[in-house]
Parts: sequence; structure tokens; C-alpha cells
Amino acid sequence: MNQPDPRERVIQVFDLVAAGYDDAALRFFPFCADRLIARLNPAPGTKLLDIATGTGVVALAAAQAVGAQGRVMAIDLAGAMLDRLQEKIVKFGIPNIDLHVMDAAALDFRRDYFDYVLCSFGIFFLSDMSAALRGWLRVLKPGGRVVFTTFGKRAFQPMMELFVQRLQRHGVLSPDDSPTTAGTRLADPGRCRELLGSAGLRQIEVKTEQLGYHLKDESQWWDVLWNSGTRGWIEQIPPAQRELFKTEHLAEIHPLVGEQGLWLDVEVHFAGGTKP
Ligand SMILES: C[S@@+](CC[C@H](N)C(=O)[O-])C[C@H]1O[C@@H](n2cnc3c(N)ncnc32)[C@H](O)[C@@H]1O
Repeated sequence: MNQPDPRERVIQVFDLVAAGYDDAALRFFPFCADRLIARLNPAPGTKLLDIATGTGVVALAAAQAVGAQGRVMAIDLAGAMLDRLQEKIVKFGIPNIDLHVMDAAALDFRRDYFDYVLCSFGIFFLSDMSAALRGWLRVLKPGGRVVFTTFGKRAFQPMMELFVQRLQRHGVLSPDDSPTTAGTRLADPGRCRELLGSAGLRQIEVKTEQLGYHLKDESQWWDVLWNSGTRGWIEQIPPAQRELFKTEHLAEIHPLVGEQGLWLDVEVHFAGGTKP
């Protein structure tokens, strides 16, 4: 997992977690996709780009909204994530989603092509987010809307802080662009606003919603860590130490489990703007 190139690290981690990514403990991903499409309310017959689609939760919700005359393009760097989406497309017989392995920072589409560009929990993986966003605007029609989602400051706390501290005790220090650290880059809604403004977008809106729920217990918290970007950090723990790490970490999470279970805070910012 010690790849110097952030893109390579992303591919390694997400190819690894693809099989478990749709785990019930991570249901905030489809919940958020539904909210995103409900907020956007894309018109039937329009063209939509879903950047960093993963297993396609946004693309699938969007495909339904734009209807048979509309088209959804779904891109990601991790082929195994796209394979999961392809399985769903076949299983449900969805006719209007196209998939491509493509870097969010180097889009290969015509300019002024899409009516909407969306990216749910992906923009913070990109080393130069402003440059990437300008690239997204290039392929968006004038008057088209770009919307991304990011995690707020409270998301996954207090468990995430305990996880990071425990990792450090096991000698794992993350580079700034690791999947876990990346998620905090746009935790400040002002930063989201700034990013959209610097790209020249208009009608900028950043809305925050709480999409959290109760996990059954600490074992489901482990499912969250194991099946998402945080897996990259777990893989850095020497294999002989991993079981001990898990035991120690879940023991410190256990006291947080209340009568209803373990609260998973999923504070999300929906950040969007319109291309002039
Ligand atoms: C946390 S997942 C989010 C997936 C999906 N949008 C969702 O909401 O469930 C992040 C995704 O971003 C993808 N990703 C990260 N960097 C990328 C890049 N430079 N280009 C394309 N995809 C990227 C990863 O492969 C992964 O599938």
C-alpha cells in the first residue's frame, strides 16, 4: 500500500474494497445519492456525468431521473468498482448508463457536452481540486450545474479520531492524500464555497445535511472501516498486528454503543454552482 502516486493508491484501495463496498453499514452512500438527485431534480432527457462513480449509486439514481431519453456517463479509476456497477446494470436491465475507466483530473469528453456534472465523495481525492473542477466545467454546458458532496467535520466522530490515534500507536502514519485524510479536506463548507467560486461558478449553494443512522454495534463500525477508503490504512498495519489492532480498537468503541446502537454521524455538504 506504500505507493507514492496518489492515483495508484486510490486504485489499489478501491479495487480491494469493491466487493464489500455496498455493505449495509455503508448505506449512507446510496442514501446520499438519492438526496443528491432529489435536490438536483435533473430534467428528463438530459446528459449527466457522474465522476468517481464507484459502484454507481449516483449513476443509478440519475439514470432513473433522466429517463430513457437521457444518458448517464459514469467514470472511475478503479476497474473493480466499475465492475460492480456493470453487474447492477445487467441485473436491472438499465439501458442508459455508459461506463469508462477515466481519471477525474483528465476528462476525455467534448466541451459543453453535459447538462450536469456530479461527484459524490470523490473530489477530495484529487491533488489539485481547483484544476480538476475547471476541467469539469469545460465539459459542462453553459447554464449547466456541477454538484459535489463532501463530509462535514462531525462525520464519523468520535470513532474516526479514535481509529486514527490507534493507528498511530501501531506506527501507521498517513500521507496527506490518503483516503482517510482526503475526506477531511473539504470539511469546512466555506472551503467548498471558495473552491466553486474560484472556478468561476455562479449561484453557488452549499447545504449541509445529517444523513447518519445507528449501526448495530462496533462490529458494524469495523465493516465501515474495512469496506471503504479507510481500508488503505488498515492494510498498512503489519499483518501479524492486525488482529490485535482490531481487538484494541473495537474495545474502545464498545462503550459508545447505546440502547439504539452505535450512532454513525454522516454530516454531508452538498456543494453546487452553475456555469455562466
Ligand atoms: C468514496 S468512493 C465514492 C463512490 C461513489 N461516488 C459513492 O458515492 O458511493 C470514491 C471513489 O472515487 C474514485 N476516485 C478517486 N480518485 C479518482 C480519480 N482521480 N479519478 C476517478 N475516480 C477516482 C475511487 O476509485 C472511488 O470509487
